[in-house]
Amino acid sequence: MNIYNFISDNIKSKIQEIDVINAALTPDVLNNIVVEVPKIRDFGDFSTNVAMVLVKLLKKSPRDIAEMILPKLSDLDFVESVSIAGPGFINIKLKDAFLIAPEKFAADKCDDSKKLMLDLDYGSYNIGKALHIGHLRTTVVGDTFNRIARYLGHKTKSYNHMGDWGRPMGLIIAWILEYGMPKNADDINVMYPASAARAKEDKAWLERAQKVRDDLQNGNPEYLKIYNEFAPMSLAQIKDILLRLNILPFDENKGERLVAEYVPDVQKILDAKNLIVHDDGADVIPVKQDDDTAPMPPVLWRSSTGAQTYAAADLAAIYYRTTTDNPTDIVYFTDSRQNLHFTQVFRAAKLAGMDSANLQHIGFGTITGADGKPFKTRDGDVPSLHQMVDMVAESVRRRAQESGKELPEETVEMIALAALKFNDLMHDVRADYVFDIDSVTQFEGRTGPYILYTAVRLNSVVKKAAAMGIVANAGNDALQPEERNLLLRIMDFTRVIENAFARRATDLLANYTYDLCQDINTFYHHCPILRDDVDAATKQSRLHLVNMAQKTLLAAIDLMGLRVPDAM
Ligand code: ARG
Repeated sequence: MNIYNFISDNIKSKIQEIDVINAALTPDVLNNIVVEVPKIRDFGDFSTNVAMVLVKLLKKSPRDIAEMILPKLSDLDFVESVSIAGPGFINIKLKDAFLIAPEKFAADKCDDSKKLMLDLDYGSYNIGKALHIGHLRTTVVGDTFNRIARYLGHKTKSYNHMGDWGRPMGLIIAWILEYGMPKNADDINVMYPASAARAKEDKAWLERAQKVRDDLQNGNPEYLKIYNEFAPMSLAQIKDILLRLNILPFDENKGERLVAEYVPDVQKILDAKNLIVHDDGADVIPVKQDDDTAPMPPVLWRSSTGAQTYAAADLAAIYYRTTTDNPTDIVYFTDSRQNLHFTQVFRAAKLAGMDSANLQHIGFGTITGADGKPFKTRDGDVPSLHQMVDMVAESVRRRAQESGKELPEETVEMIALAALKFNDLMHDVRADYVFDIDSVTQFEGRTGPYILYTAVRLNSVVKKAAAMGIVANAGNDALQPEERNLLLRIMDFTRVIENAFARRATDLLANYTYDLCQDINTFYHHCPILRDDVDAATKQSRLHLVNMAQKTLLAAIDLMGLRVPDAM
C-alpha cells in the first residue's frame, strides 16, 4: 500500500463524517485532495491541501475549514498531532508506533483487476554489430523498467526485436561471399563496417548487397545457410555482454526476420482498408493528419526492390504481439532519433485497426562527452559496451589503489557495473547526459559505488549483530529525528516505484535510492547501533530499523540490476 494513498483515503473518509462537508462533496473535489511532504518537517511528516480545496464548496476561509477538520483528523489512530500552517494547509505528524512498522507499506502486488500485460521492446540489437554506447540506455532502462513492472505484479514479455533481416545482412553476406566465413563474432563486427564503407564509395557493391538482401528475404538457400552460420555467433556475443551487464534474459529474441511471416497478414489488412498507395515503385501508407505542423512522410511499407522495410517489420511485430500476447500496452525504448518512425508506425497501426494495445515510445537523449557531442573514446571511437565497462572498471581500480585498497577483480566488476548503470538510470531518460568516467566511480555523492557502499555497510551490521546474538525488536522509545526520517523514506518506496512505473521514469527509483542511502548514513552517524555504550533495548530497536532499511535498499538495488559485493 502506498502511504500517500493511505493517508489521503483516511482524510477523505474523515471529512465525510462532517455533515456540512459531506452534503456538498463531489468526486472532483475528492480527487483534488493531495498529500505531500512539507518543506519544513518540524511540524508534520505530511501536509494536505484538504481545507483549500473545500473553499469554493463551503464559502469559508481555508483556516476556518481547517479548524473544522482538525478534531476529526486527530481522531485517526495513526496521527500524533495536527496543526494548521500558512493560509490553511494542514500538517500531520504520525505516531512513532505507526512509523515503526513500515512493512505495511511495502509494495504489494496490484490486484488482478489492475494487472497489466506489457510487451516491452528494448535492446533490439543488430546482428553483426557489437553492442555499443548507443545500446546502453535502452538496455539498462528497459531492463529496470521490466523489473519494476514485474515487482508490482504486472505481466511483461520482453522483446529483443533484432535487426537481423535488413540492409546489414546483405552487406555482411556479400562480404562473406567474397572473403569467406568469419571465424568468430569479432570478425563479423569488422565485416559489417568494412562492407558498409565500401558500399558508400562503390555503387556496384551497394547494389550487390541490396540484391543479396532481397534474395535472402526471398529464401535463397545459399544465403540462408550463410546467415544461419554467422547469426548464432553474433547472438552469443550479445548474450555475453548482457550477462556481464546483469540484464534479465529476453523472453523473445524475435526481430525483423522472425516477424517476416506476419507481413502477409498485415498486407491483407492494409489492402482491405485501402491504406496502401503506390509511389514510384514502392508501397507506402500515408499517415499525415490535417493538424500536423511538422512534416509527416508516409510509412514505407515495401521498398521499390520489394524488400521488407524497417517499418513493415514493426507493423508485423505489432500484429504478432497483439494477436499472441493480448497486451494492454506495448512500450518501446529507443533513442529519440526514432521518434518520427514510431509516430508513423503507430499511426499506421491505428489506421489498420491494430491498436488494441496502448502503443508508447520512450525516446532517449544522447550520452555525450564533456564537449556536448556524442561520447567517444580517447581514440575517437564509438565505445562498445564491453569497452565502457572496462573503462569504468579501470577507474575503479585506480581509485582503490590510490586509497591503498586492493579489491578482488569480481568486486571491481560489481562496482564498475553499479557506477555505469546507476549513472545511466539516475538521469531523466529523455534528456542528454554527460558521461564522465571519473565522476561516476566516486565513492561519495550520487553514484553507484556510494549506493553499494551503503548496502555493504548495512549487510555487515546485520551480520555482526547476528554474530553477537542480538535480535531485532521494534522498541517503544521515542524515535530520534534521524530514525523518523529513515522510516518515512522506507515507507515512501511503494509510491516511488508506482510513479516510476506509471511515468516510465526509472530515474525516480535511482534518485530515491540515493536519498534512502543518505538517510541511512545520517541515521548510522547519529544513532550508534552495536556500540558498547548503547543499551540492549536500543540496540535491538535500531537493528530493527537496519533490517527494514536493508530490505528496502536491497530491493531497490535489485530493481536496478546491480550486484552487491561482500566488502569494498
Ligand atoms: N534495431 C534497431 C536499431 O538498432 C532498434 C529497434 C528498436 N525497436 C523496434 N521495434 N523498432 O536502431
